[in-house]
Amino acid sequence: MNVKEAISARRAVRTYTGEKVDEATVRSLLRAAVQAPSAMNRQPWLFSIIQDASQLARYSERAKAMVLDQMAGDPKTAHYQEMLKSPTFDIFYRAGTLVVIGSSERGPYTDADCWLAAENLMLAACEAGLGSCCIGFAISLLNTPEAKAELGLPPAGIAVAPIIVGYPTAEPSPPVPRSEPKIVSWSGSRAAG
Ligand SMILES: Cc1cc2nc3c(=O)[nH]c(=O)nc-3n(C[C@H](O)[C@H](O)[C@H](O)COP(=O)(O)O)c2cc1C
Repeated sequence: MNVKEAISARRAVRTYTGEKVDEATVRSLLRAAVQAPSAMNRQPWLFSIIQDASQLARYSERAKAMVLDQMAGDPKTAHYQEMLKSPTFDIFYRAGTLVVIGSSERGPYTDADCWLAAENLMLAACEAGLGSCCIGFAISLLNTPEAKAELGLPPAGIAVAPIIVGYPTAEPSPPVPRSEPKIVSWSGSRAAG
């Protein structure tokens, strides 16, 4: 799989067998993650790996309550509120592994650095035949003092990019359509392609 193939093949996977990704594979995904560019080459990322099913279930329940509170009264999120209210909805889709990419402190580029690492990780997972998905619903919960302590992050640290990884139960769903790039300016004379 070349880079363009991996970019096109990666999809948000939301059904998993629950089987954990083995340690060697997790480490190879992290090696791909740290090849990402970072501002001033600070490489600020720290990784927390969660493969404890009961911890993931506990985080899911608490995150659902937090996100529901944040969404309360917003009709634009009605569909998500319904989903989050369901007792059977697991924000981690029963994936066996959650990788949280965070940092010991927040700098102006920390979020960008961590999300770039996250994309590398997801592309490497795709190449390895694994599914992955960003879980934004988990971010508030993962930044509570209790969760940060469990993740091994210092009190001033931040959890930026929660990514689930695991073995998909089904063929990937068809690509979510993308709009054509909206070019709003292009100065200078264009080179013929
Ligand atoms: C920052 C971020 C947060 C996301 N949070 C969630 C989430 O909490 N739950 C979820 O199922 N998908 C989440 N997604 C996945 C998007 O819904 C998905 O990437 C998008 O619909 C496009 O689909 P594709 O990744 O299959 O191309 C998130 C994606 C990003 C980039």
